[in-house]
Amino acid sequence: TDIRIGTELIRRRKGGIPLVCLTAYTYPVARLLDPHVDLLLVGDSVAMVLHGHETTLGASLEMMIAHGQAVMRGSARACVVVDMPAGSYEDSAAQAVASARRIVGETGCQAVKLEGGVDMAGQIAAIVAAGIPVMGHIGLLPQSVEKDGGYKIKGRTDETVAALMADARAVEKAGAFSVVIEGTIEAVAADITRRIAIPTIGIGASGDCDGQILVIDDMVGLTVDRVPKFVKEYADLRRVIANAAERYAAEVRDRTFPGPAHVFSDSKASSGTDGG
Ligand code: KIV
Ligand code: NA
Repeated sequence: TDIRIGTELIRRRKGGIPLVCLTAYTYPVARLLDPHVDLLLVGDSVAMVLHGHETTLGASLEMMIAHGQAVMRGSARACVVVDMPAGSYEDSAAQAVASARRIVGETGCQAVKLEGGVDMAGQIAAIVAAGIPVMGHIGLLPQSVEKDGGYKIKGRTDETVAALMADARAVEKAGAFSVVIEGTIEAVAADITRRIAIPTIGIGASGDCDGQILVIDDMVGLTVDRVPKFVKEYADLRRVIANAAERYAAEVRDRTFPGPAHVFSDSKASSGTDGG
């Protein structure tokens, strides 16, 4: 029996207690987050966050599948969504369905996410028709930052507000179970949330969204480059890791580490766990 939160349950949380979402890319972090969240996203941000690429365009299908498998091994109850990387779905509905089938088939995740509204409605509808739940992603689209000339907040002009609303409605109509709204003027994200029937998940959007998501490394203070304004750092892991490395380095250099507790002695009294 599957104890995982399904996408239908996520959909029905519209207007209820806000949905708690975080990205996860690895087995240990999935283990730690799973008890606390409704949804884990294996974001293509993994290309930047863990692999050091300049943009999310560095993500590949193989990379997403490997991290999706790791997160599935580390989680038991959260709904796991895996991002479709750039280049795996834009060309055609057939390409999108083939890529989505590979992601779900090789990871066992609950759903896939892709970026785009009106222009990607055909892809969303085709993946949903193939029996795979889809999460949409509108507003600031990281896979398009090179084309857009940088990270630009959306919804500042009447024209873009209308385009955002059209994107939201297109994603909803195409059958997505939920939609991420990223980097969008607060009132616009709130208005979209009121006007569509599927839950909106905000990031740099609005507290009125039906849920929130952050990149895990940003949230725990592990991001070494500039963090965006919308991030709140709930921990300072940069300092924890740097401090541990500094103390380790000092103890290795002055031979304080390893101490008696960290070596295997010949003594019969010792209770080593070396299996020998
Ligand atoms: O890749 C990612 O981390 C994302 C979230 C920020 C929504 O798409
Ligand atoms: Na993403």
